[in-house]
Amino acid sequence: MPFREVGSLADLVQQFREGIARLQQAESLQDVMNDSLGRGLLAGAVGLLMLALLLLSPGAPAEKSELDKKLQGKPKPPPRGYTRAEVAAHNTEEDLWLILCNRHRGNKYKVYDVTSYFEHHPGGDAILTNAGGDCTEGFHGIQHPPTVYDLVEEYCIGWLED
Ligand code: HEM
Repeated sequence: MPFREVGSLADLVQQFREGIARLQQAESLQDVMNDSLGRGLLAGAVGLLMLALLLLSPGAPAEKSELDKKLQGKPKPPPRGYTRAEVAAHNTEEDLWLILCNRHRGNKYKVYDVTSYFEHHPGGDAILTNAGGDCTEGFHGIQHPPTVYDLVEEYCIGWLED
């Protein structure tokens, strides 16, 4: 049965009640589909179901690299002083320390363990240029916006002693 013209909220409620009463007498899904209110309610229910599935479905877990897995849960040691010789021993992709004077954040020579950052570095292997050594010059090139001055501090493990 088609809807009558809607005059007021009371009319609307009345029409809805009539529609529900019609649907209660429906004997099959076909009967429901033949009714405009039935179609609307079904479409709404399907929409809600899809929304719920979308919100509840867990996102695909981010794929962790071998290095990330190896470093996972490794605690950061308490900050301490390091000599240049000590830092120099950490000069590979899998164990990458840098000495840096972050001119915009404290202007002191400090030591950074950027091993876990290496494979995320947008500048790729450039970060290896002074692996285990002083990268202050390279770090302050125009390739790095000021956000990097803060980012690098997350990897600080101590200060330089000599
Ligand atoms: C001497 C050491 C480093 C060198 C030579 C270097 C070099 C570069 C280069 C060439 C780029 C440009 C990539 C491109 O636009 O194609 C770059 C980008 C970047 N680097 Fe480094 N990098 C060094 C150290 C670091 C460190 C220690 C960090 C942070 C822990 C870092 C964070 C970044 C970030 C976030 C970008 C992207 C900047 C943007 O938003 O455009 N880099 N780097």
